Amino acid sequence: MLDSMAKLLEKPPLYTKSEAAFWDDEHISGQMLRAHLDPEFEGASRKKAFIEKSALWIGEAVPPSSSPSLLDIGCGPGIYAERFAEMGYQVTGIDFSKRSIEYGRNSAIKQGFDISYHYQDYLAMNLRQRFDFATMIYCDYGALSTEDRQIIMQKAFDHLKAGGRFLLDVFSMAKYNSFKESQTWEVCHDGGFWRAGKYAALKGCYKYPDHVTLEEILVISDWEPAVYYLWNTYFTKEMLIQEAAAAGFKVGGVFGDVAGCPYNEDSHTIAMLLEK
Ligand SMILES: C[S@@+](CC[C@H](N)C(=O)[O-])C[C@H]1O[C@@H](n2cnc3c(N)ncnc32)[C@H](O)[C@@H]1O
Repeated sequence: MLDSMAKLLEKPPLYTKSEAAFWDDEHISGQMLRAHLDPEFEGASRKKAFIEKSALWIGEAVPPSSSPSLLDIGCGPGIYAERFAEMGYQVTGIDFSKRSIEYGRNSAIKQGFDISYHYQDYLAMNLRQRFDFATMIYCDYGALSTEDRQIIMQKAFDHLKAGGRFLLDVFSMAKYNSFKESQTWEVCHDGGFWRAGKYAALKGCYKYPDHVTLEEILVISDWEPAVYYLWNTYFTKEMLIQEAAAAGFKVGGVFGDVAGCPYNEDSHTIAMLLEK
């Protein structure tokens, strides 16, 4: 028993993917949706006040009058997508959380927004349309392995018209430097984030070489134990420019966040507006 737990808790090779579903798990996706919709919670989406400021800035930086068609990559339940639709963009959203996409579709119908939602892995995205503008917001790019980042950067490029723009954000080295390694555990008697029923979760937070971090969570419940690996790669401006250039992008602007705050070395995020 102890040996098998210790084996599950070993630090895995870089970018090992979890076998257990995370974003699309029946229970976890419900918890994530609640987190997305909580205006004061920063975790799945950012807080409502920031999102409002961010949507306004995006509308000024890449106005819907000149860039009407917008692809929101990893759109979640459509918190940005709905604001974009309200601002006059023709919005397409893609996400592989079935629960988020269903929520987004129902919410759009209720509010009269004409948003086209796709329940799909964005790494396999192959839409017929080409867009004026694409967004990938809240540092999802850095949660991917090097290979998957190459795939999504190229997919974003290929889904844009000539002259189209791509806005994304990543965590910076300042954020990496503030990351503390730790090992913690919790017992939830009446269920919680990871399971509906009783469970214990053992969590290890580790730094890997080349400014990568791992949050490794072992969940023990009445089911088989399951391990979740949440990776993050942190960037300098130059690293992100290099990855974008490899797909064919030019840099149109560098900011401290997706609300247009000026970039400096202390920013915990870097937002980049790329051009095809
Ligand atoms: C951090 S959340 C950000 C959501 C949204 N952009 C926002 O800021 O409110 C990342 C989103 O990406 C989605 N996602 C992660 N990996 C994905 C993949 N391979 N294909 C499609 N969606 C993915 C998740 O389901 C989640 O909704």
